Order: sequence, then C-alpha cells, then structure tokens
Amino acid sequence: MKTIKNICCIGAGYVGGPTMSVIAFKCPDIQVTVVDINAERIKAWNDTDLDKLPVYEPGLKEIVATARGRNLFFSTEVDQAIDQADMIFISVNTPTKTYGKGKGQAADLKYIELCARNIARVAKDDKIVIEKSTLPVRTAQAIKNILDNTGNHVNFEILSNPEFLAEGTAITDLLNADRVLIGGDSTPNGEAAKQALSSIYENWLPKERILLTNVWSSELSKLVANAFLAQRISSINSISALCEKTDADVDEVAKAIGLDSRIGPKFLKASVGFGGSCFQKDILNLVYIAKSYGLEEVSNYWEQVIKINDYQKQRFADSIVSTLYNTVSGKKIVFYGWAFKKDTNDTRESAAIYVANALLEEQAEIVVYDPKVSDQQIYADLDRLNTRSEEENRRLLTVSKDPLTCVDDAHAIAILTEWDEFKTLDWETIYTKMLKPSFVFDGRRILDSKKLNAIGFKYSRIGES
Ligand code: UDX
Ligand code: UDX
Repeated sequence: MKTIKNICCIGAGYVGGPTMSVIAFKCPDIQVTVVDINAERIKAWNDTDLDKLPVYEPGLKEIVATARGRNLFFSTEVDQAIDQADMIFISVNTPTKTYGKGKGQAADLKYIELCARNIARVAKDDKIVIEKSTLPVRTAQAIKNILDNTGNHVNFEILSNPEFLAEGTAITDLLNADRVLIGGDSTPNGEAAKQALSSIYENWLPKERILLTNVWSSELSKLVANAFLAQRISSINSISALCEKTDADVDEVAKAIGLDSRIGPKFLKASVGFGGSCFQKDILNLVYIAKSYGLEEVSNYWEQVIKINDYQKQRFADSIVSTLYNTVSGKKIVFYGWAFKKDTNDTRESAAIYVANALLEEQAEIVVYDPKVSDQQIYADLDRLNTRSEEENRRLLTVSKDPLTCVDDAHAIAILTEWDEFKTLDWETIYTKMLKPSFVFDGRRILDSKKLNAIGFKYSRIGES
C-alpha cells in the first residue's frame, strides 16, 4: 500500500475547509493543501486574524492555528496542488440544476466534471481521487470515464467518502465521527486505495468505525442518511400542525415517542422547517434518481418530506399574518436569527429567507438581527429569489447589529434561529420598547412560555395551540 504523503482538496468551503483542517491537525506527517478558484475565500483562510476565517465553526480556529503553515496550506494554485498530491479530494459544490433536464431536482455536476478534467490534464502519476461532495449515485463512474479517457495514461482509483459532519458541530463531528464510509472497487487497486484512505482516519478513529463498501452503496448511503434525518423533522413538523389544533404539545409528544429506544430522541425537534445546503438538495436528488429509474412511488414518497417542509415555513408566515389581525402591511416585525441553525454563519436554504419573503409580499417591514450573518449575505439571499427588486428588498428589510435597539416600536418578534443568546436577552426591557400588544412567534421553541406570558407578551410557538 502506497503511503500517502501529500493530499490536495479542491473546494475550500464548509466541508473541504474543516475536514482538511482536521486531517492536517491529526496527521502532521501529511502535507494537506486546500485549493479553491475563489481567491477571496483562500485569502480569508490565510488571514492572520483567525476570526476572519470564511467558515465559522466552534473549535475550527484553534485547529487552523496549530496546523496552518506547518502541514496545512490554502492556495489558489490548483494545478500545482493536483500535480504534487497522491490523493485528491473533490469537495466542490453540487447545486440543484437551475436549467435544462432535471431543472429544480437533479444535481448540477458541472463543477465536478471541471475538476475531473483538470485532474486528468495535470496528473502525471497515479492518483487516488475521492468524492467528498455529495453526489448522485453512479457519479464515480462518470468521473472515472473522464479521467481514463482524457488522462495521461496514469492509473486513477476513484473512492466515495461522503462527509457526515453537521454545521455548527463540524469539528466535534469530525473528531468523533459515528462512522466513516469509504466506497471503492473490489479490485486489488481499489482495495489498496480504500486501505490508504482508511489509514488516514485510523490516526484518530477506531478501525471498527470505518466502513468499507462498494462505491454505489457509499454514494447512495449519504443521500439516504440525509433523507432519513430530514424525514424525521418533517414527520414531527407535520404533527406540530396537528398539536396546534388539538391542544397536544409537540415536545411532550416528541419526548414520549423518543423514549422508545427503537425510535430514539434525536432529530425530533419541531421547528419552522429545516434548512441547510444538504437536506433539500439531497432529497431532490433521491427523488430525481428514483423517477429516472421509473420508481414513481418511491420518488413521490420522498418528495413529500420537502412538501411538508415548505408547508411548515408557509404555515409559520401565515400564522404571523393572521395573528396580527390579518394584516402586516407597514408593521415592523423583528427577526431574531437568519442562519439555518445556531452556531453557523451559513444561511443556505434557511427557513428565515422564505418566511421573510412571504411577509414582504404582505408589505411587512422586517428588521433582522443575527449574531453571525452579514448584511450582504441577507440581501443576497433575498435577491436570489427574484421576487421583487433589490431596491425594494433594501427598503422593506433592514439589518441590525443590536437585538435590543431594533425592537423599538415593533409589533412582533419572530424567532427563526435557535441561537442560545436569545434565551437570555432582557425580555422585560424588550417588552417595554415594543408596541402593545407585543407578539412573539417562536419558530424554534426556545423561550420560556410562562416567563414571557407573565411579562405580558402574546407568546405563541410552533406545535402548541
Ligand atoms: C459542497 C457541496 O455543496 C456538498 O454537496 C458536498 O457534500 C460538499 O461540498 P460546501 O463545502 O458546503 O459543500 O460548499 P461550498 O461552501 O459552496 O464550497 C465549495 C467550494 O468549491 C467553493 O469555495 C468554490 O469556490 C469551490 N469550487 C467550486 C472550486 O474550487 N472549483 C470549482 O470548479 C467549483
Ligand atoms: C446535515 C446532516 O446532519 C449531516 O450529517 C450532513 O453531513 C449534512 O446535512 P446540517 O445541514 O449541517 O447537517 O445540519 P443539521 O443539524 O442536520 O440541521 C439541518 C436543519 O434541520 C437545520 O435547519 C436544523 O435547524 C433543522 N433541524 C434539525 C430541526 O428543525 N429539528 C431537528 O430536530 C434537527
């Protein structure tokens, strides 16, 4: 088995950046170079001020501080890094297609293909190429075809090594992974490549947690894992709607069912809807693949998980409008939170974007406070929907850096992200600043209902009448 001395990762995003930082941290003898075509992103990864790293993850900056410059490098020199590497991770984005066949469902593989062509052009010796990006089943075959047909007659082994980290807990997830999945061919070269990758993870994880499978199982397992997780959220969110009608309390129901060890307690938190770059995209992928093999029932089954999620976001916006006497026109509504979950600055597919859009359609005036998300990001998220002009978005929605001053004369506060700091805000003072009656809509069920009601708020939350 070849000893791996040099790793390259293409794509310095939320997945590539933290994953490679941890590999470099745990494997000081391996040189790890993370490359990206986005020069600004690389510059931020190299910033001496570690608070300016492009990805915010608890524990990340400490790890980067130790490894960067030692055996961890961030660079835009893609060709050079490919040339020097024994092992190349592909961790570029695979957005849902916005055009042509499969529009709105299939994954757009153009960046993956560009990477494969680039590797084929540059590589002068044998390489192990690893799919880190989440991909539709059988993408490895396409990558192999491109590499073998356009390459310089060197041997490429393709492995699938999906990433299971969740944002906000990326570093602990990487350091204590439940399992690492490595899919590859069962040929002697394929087995050797799987062992080479396994030996890297064995530097910090017990061997029993490293699962070696065929490529297709590995690719499919990643999609299915995300689909199952999202399905649990949609399941409990569908029940939250029923709870609101029946006086049941969704947390009590979640606790009661979660104590059944066959069901388990995790991922049963009712919310305003799941977001993030993965769940929707991966389920759409699954839906598209099933459909393309003629499995209409399978495809419809999984599509329902997304429909319930859309329903949940719409329901939250609708309940704000109906509670505010059926009109929010000209009313100031403060959003606490914009990120798709706490402890991350990532906003991709965040429920907040869709709830804001629905309320702006009703002419509400929205003020957003999020501890980690920038103004530019918030406006970019809204502008991308193309619902109204950029000027209109900036006129109707403003961004605040202070959760207390922004509530002056507000009609309502909506909690969109479960940031811990919202629990300990001075709610008494907030109450005095708002218009009366003062409404709080808790889309994350994080506040103490007794306390808020005692202060005088009209407090309501998802999953309770
Ligand atoms: C991405 C995918 O979205 C996800 O499906 C997969 O599991 C892992 O990779 P993420 O790291 O969150 O997730 O994406 P993103 O933060 O967008 O980072 C991708 C990076 O790749 C970007 O910085 C982009 O500039 C870079 N890139 C893209 C390249 O360097 N080359 C390309 O050709 C395309
Ligand atoms: C997910 C998977 O967890 C991870 O394994 C995979 O690699 C990438 O996709 P991520 O999207 O980063 O990770 O975050 P996750 O913690 O799964 O949360 C996704 C969304 O679901 C968030 O919007 C979160 O708020 C929401 N959620 C999660 C709920 O609404 N209720 C829950 O019980 C759990």
